[in-house]
Amino acid sequence: MFRVLITDNLSPAGMEVLKNLQGIEVDVRQGLSPEEVREALKEADGIIIRSATKLTPELLKDQPRLKVVVRAGVGVDNINLPAATREGIVVMNTPAGNTTSTAEHTVAMMMSLSRNIAPAAASMSAGRWDRKLYTGTQLAGKTLGIVGLGRIGLSVAKRAQGLEMKIVGFDPFLSAERAAELGIELHRDIDDLVPLCDYLTVHTPLTDETRGIINAARLAKMRKGVRIINCARGGIVDENDLADAIEAGQVGGAALDVFTSEPPTDDRLVKLPQVLSTPHLGASTEEAQELVAVEAAELISGFLLRNE
Ligand code: MLT
Repeated sequence: MFRVLITDNLSPAGMEVLKNLQGIEVDVRQGLSPEEVREALKEADGIIIRSATKLTPELLKDQPRLKVVVRAGVGVDNINLPAATREGIVVMNTPAGNTTSTAEHTVAMMMSLSRNIAPAAASMSAGRWDRKLYTGTQLAGKTLGIVGLGRIGLSVAKRAQGLEMKIVGFDPFLSAERAAELGIELHRDIDDLVPLCDYLTVHTPLTDETRGIINAARLAKMRKGVRIINCARGGIVDENDLADAIEAGQVGGAALDVFTSEPPTDDRLVKLPQVLSTPHLGASTEEAQELVAVEAAELISGFLLRNE
């Protein structure tokens, strides 16, 4: 019997897949301290996590039974990959399931930011009728820069094209032919892209190369009043540099779903009136959570039962 530990909130659809399988037993334990996760891992052949559980080198060390970690979602930045590799633990993710939901959230954030939806709704709840204060900006005809043209970046591009925006993109891997087919003006140097944007959204993983890729120097090169959107990972846009640029009037506003530390420990950015923020909701739809949970359950059971 293989035991699968689940320490984060997984959609019941994924649990159903596992419960119906012979040879797999499920151990659901949420709200564990790191020390409790370490202990629970001693009895697990595999673990499914979302973003709350952090698999540090300390937790992954000396776990002879643990063979596989599956991240129900895209980002694996909460798993220490060098430590997993060192310990011979396979790491997998479910890259496709939440593409549409995250792209939709990005577009929702961009539209809400442009039309001041959140402050206008808050002012109505407070009994006001303030029309002048919340005059917005139209998206049609504006240029959206997309940093990272993977699944989510391309899905955002398609939706924004439907809103009649011009798309310029930065990506080192997408071929020039494919970009042309998709109607995207492709740039290989991010410094050529940033001055062109009225809006800029990032869709890369967080790595040493992408941490702070949008920083003070690049914000300064952008059009005055540019709006920045980050529904990918906290830290891709440098938070202090962004706050400075908003306060200086160089950046007109920002829509942020992700933060360097979650929840944010420094609330300077989220308290700025030009900032619209949500608590990492990009993939939080019933559909996305069901898809990633089922895919995670199939991946982990397939892996364990195949390697019996
Ligand atoms: C992901 O990496 O899949 C998303 O950010 C969603 C999440 O962390 O739950």
